[in-house]
Amino acid sequence: MRHNFRYDVDDLLAKDKAHAMHPWHEFGRSDHTLLADSEGIYVYDGAGNKYIDGIGGMWAVQLGYGNEEMARAISDQVRSMVYYSPWSMATPPHAEVSAKLATLTPGDLNRFFYSTGGSTANDAAVRFVHYYWNVMERSTKKHIITRADAYHGSTYLADSLCGKPGNDTRMERVTEWISHVSSPNPYRKPDGMTDGQFLDHLIDELEGRIEELGAENVAAFIAEPVLASGGVIVPPDGYQKRCLEVCRKHDVLYISDEVVTGFGRMGHFFASEPVFGIVPDIITAAKGFTSGYIPAGLTAISEKLHRDIVDKSGDSATFSMGFTYSGHPVAMAAALKNIELMERDRIMEHARATGDYFQDRLRSLADLPMVGDVRGVGLMGCVECVKSKTGKEPFEESLSVGKRIDRKCQEYGLILRPMWHLCVFSPPIIISEGQVDDMVGIMEKAIREVADDMIREGSWDGKE
Ligand SMILES: Cc1ncc(COP(=O)(O)O)c(C=O)c1O
Repeated sequence: MRHNFRYDVDDLLAKDKAHAMHPWHEFGRSDHTLLADSEGIYVYDGAGNKYIDGIGGMWAVQLGYGNEEMARAISDQVRSMVYYSPWSMATPPHAEVSAKLATLTPGDLNRFFYSTGGSTANDAAVRFVHYYWNVMERSTKKHIITRADAYHGSTYLADSLCGKPGNDTRMERVTEWISHVSSPNPYRKPDGMTDGQFLDHLIDELEGRIEELGAENVAAFIAEPVLASGGVIVPPDGYQKRCLEVCRKHDVLYISDEVVTGFGRMGHFFASEPVFGIVPDIITAAKGFTSGYIPAGLTAISEKLHRDIVDKSGDSATFSMGFTYSGHPVAMAAALKNIELMERDRIMEHARATGDYFQDRLRSLADLPMVGDVRGVGLMGCVECVKSKTGKEPFEESLSVGKRIDRKCQEYGLILRPMWHLCVFSPPIIISEGQVDDMVGIMEKAIREVADDMIREGSWDGKE
């Protein structure tokens, strides 16, 4: 026990169950845990039990919990200038963070539009792309190409860009101008293909889709460099670069969704150029931008696109999109301090070294029962459980293998993100090697025990 909590856990959970709707609100669900405190990479439930936060809140809390300097920057900004309309006024942190970001983004991505999170950052990217092509008098360019297993958010538009399975199919989506190509998942590539052949196949598919739709009708391709919520899918080497080449050839804009891969998860502020060798036209980010301390998203747009609009239509052009809280001074102050601390404390260097160690240690789980694939890059990873290592057949969703492993991990003090038969990790990037060992040690024990339990119950035959 860390504290004598003043929370009445049962009362709070009863209120939560009666009135609060959580994301992906499950109408019958009643098993949320109450988290009441946090420090560093640890969170504490309402009874004071301590857990390693294996998922950084939700790919977000890069600097860990309870950072005093972040808290002070936020409270100072609240006191000095909490908010004013971004339509009519500039504020110091809004101006400063924009100038700072321009030094961190690749190429000429020097213009920043702010929103409240990753979904709205992607909405802004797509709305900007459509606006751009309209201004350029190429208004047939409307189609956005996205991928199976992608996750780009949950507004009406961002959700329509997703390709990750698992949504209730009775939700509505935009379909007329959104087109999905295959997931670049090497573990699930067609039988008999080498990685190189798989890469060619994906690139041919993308180019084929553009030709089929007509390049004059395709506005942009949107892609996470690593597909995060789809199960930490790391595309084959060279994939992003070749996709960009195809886009350039057909005058299709490239939006790189770095909501997860940005701000340190891969050891860089933006991973597109240093890790994947691409300078896209637009990059979106959120989550780690403020280390999760305050909601904020950003859409970084190239100077070229910005200039093209002005050249074509002069000063009368207006990108008619914005939110009450675009560039909110408190969020911008948090982002500025977050970047300052990341630079001062050499967090990127730490993330690269610890990321390599984490990948190494995670791969030690590959020989465990049920484990078909262990993948990841930097400080993001996934363990995929399958009925048989050779057949790669996933466990049925009804068996909730991921959830069972998560429950077992929680008994031993680790929270991960279960998704069907997958277990996903993205710890705070301040995590140490010793804490990585603790995490992987708990995971190993949990997988072994769940595998034994399932064999005992008869829900898995145990044959590899
Ligand atoms: C790659 C990616 N893009 C966009 C989003 C949406 O961000 P938000 O939930 O802040 O709207 C997410 C959220 O997990 C994400 O993983």
